[in-house]
Amino acid sequence: MKILAIESSCDETAAAVVEDGRKVLSSVISSQVQEHKIYGGVVPEIASRRHAEAISQVVEKALSDADTTLDDLEAIAVTYAPGLIGALLVGVNYAKGLSFASGKPLVPVHHLRSHIAASYITHADLKPPFFCLVVSGGNTMMVEVRDYTDFEIIGRTRDDAAGEALDKAARAMGIPYPGGLNLDRMCKDGNSTAYKFPTPKVEGCPYDFSFSGLKTSVINTIHNAKQKNGEINIPDLGASFMKAVSSCLCKNTEKAMKDRGYKTLVLAGGVSANSVLRQDMESLCKANGYRLYLPELSLCGDNAAMVGSQGYYEYLAGKRAGLELNAFAGKDIDEKQ
Ligand code: KG4
Repeated sequence: MKILAIESSCDETAAAVVEDGRKVLSSVISSQVQEHKIYGGVVPEIASRRHAEAISQVVEKALSDADTTLDDLEAIAVTYAPGLIGALLVGVNYAKGLSFASGKPLVPVHHLRSHIAASYITHADLKPPFFCLVVSGGNTMMVEVRDYTDFEIIGRTRDDAAGEALDKAARAMGIPYPGGLNLDRMCKDGNSTAYKFPTPKVEGCPYDFSFSGLKTSVINTIHNAKQKNGEINIPDLGASFMKAVSSCLCKNTEKAMKDRGYKTLVLAGGVSANSVLRQDMESLCKANGYRLYLPELSLCGDNAAMVGSQGYYEYLAGKRAGLELNAFAGKDIDEKQ
């Protein structure tokens, strides 16, 4: 069963054809990173405009790379939430047009569900139930994945997402956009014990995270050094900060998995590409005898292959949308979709 998937939630216009949820026949990504770089972050209106310009060609290429026509498709899946609203609307409206023209059913897909599905593509043997840590630019949460379309959030960030904290810390360190990725590249060999950071806790909620204090702490460290004409070793500071973020993520994940009796952990979202986090989670899982599934690096960031994978399971579960489908900037992964 072939599904055409479309993704436009942030700054990548992407389309893919995926067979039976696991086999990627084509995956095309048109990235806007270079354009947003000069602003130091994603500019929502520019993102929407670039999606509008790129989407037809990206979808056409995905179909032709997969040697597939609209007639061969079972359904059209599209990311409809959460994300930048103007960006999402471009993909949603394009998918509606294709669905109307081809008569193929339209399947709305939650962006974070599709990040989790990236691991179904990477690991043929992975099946729910499992425990998942979702770490992206806009969201950080721990989720019980009970079935392909049955999720429950058991902990989340109270303020910044891990990716947002990494991006802002990178910016404060003068590391160019995309911050999280460049921070990892430039600092992974730094001394992670050189700078001390607190391990923030959310009182009474052991499964929740808070990263804004850590972010402030790194900014203060830089300001203090500047005021005293002191030197900052960026690789060491970056490595220490990544270690601090990773430690918070590992601590809560370990506690929640123990409490809930899970033995399988999946990482999902852009920050799951982080080398420190991947290493720390590997050690955590080895120490506890857990099985760890990491998405392959090329599937950690936004792409449409993962949307096609999750779209397949949503389709099997009977999820359909009509031409009145809207996009939503915010929607919980476990909310009735
Ligand atoms: O999941 P994603 O691609 O987009 C959202 O849906 O949010 O995540 C983007 C986030 C950004 O904050 C980016 O800086 C971060 O993932 N990121 C990384 C790395 N690669 C991407 N953060 C740390 N280390 C990386 N290697």
